[in-house]
Amino acid sequence: MSVKPIILLPDEKILRQVSKPVKQVDTATRSIFDDMLETMYAAPGIGLAAIQIGVAQRLVVLDLSKTGETPKPMFLANPSIVWSSPEESDYEEGCLSIPDFYEMVQRPKEVKVQFQDRNGEAHEIHAAGLLATCLQHEIDHLNGVLFIDHISRLKRARVIKKFQKADKLGRL
Ligand code: NI
Repeated sequence: MSVKPIILLPDEKILRQVSKPVKQVDTATRSIFDDMLETMYAAPGIGLAAIQIGVAQRLVVLDLSKTGETPKPMFLANPSIVWSSPEESDYEEGCLSIPDFYEMVQRPKEVKVQFQDRNGEAHEIHAAGLLATCLQHEIDHLNGVLFIDHISRLKRARVIKKFQKADKLGRL
């Protein structure tokens, strides 16, 4: 396991890639999962998609446990939303690839998600609340979509510009 560098805005060339399905969840997949989890914990964050460490595979890790609680890591290969509730909810989102930027995002309140776990076994979960939001945010990453795509065009242009400027000044 090792902590990998997280791809940040303005590197949209990587972040906008559509990740490929994982044909077989094997030892190599589990090794990527472990690097992702360690990178996410080190950041720290509650969710990470493989493309955020430059791996274009449909893999997501999450851990919504609170500080001081026993960690509850979730490993999702090929997650897909098979149902979304018509009701929506607002949540202030952030992203490890867009540090120190938070904005309210409206998404379906509940979702059903099918995925394979780190042993390749298939599952379907019905998620609500923060879990529903995180799953949608991370699955968006697998499709090259960032949470700033769900905010106003003006706010999005402003945040992208801010990160381009920081990049030029040698922040990275
Ligand atoms: Ni994110």
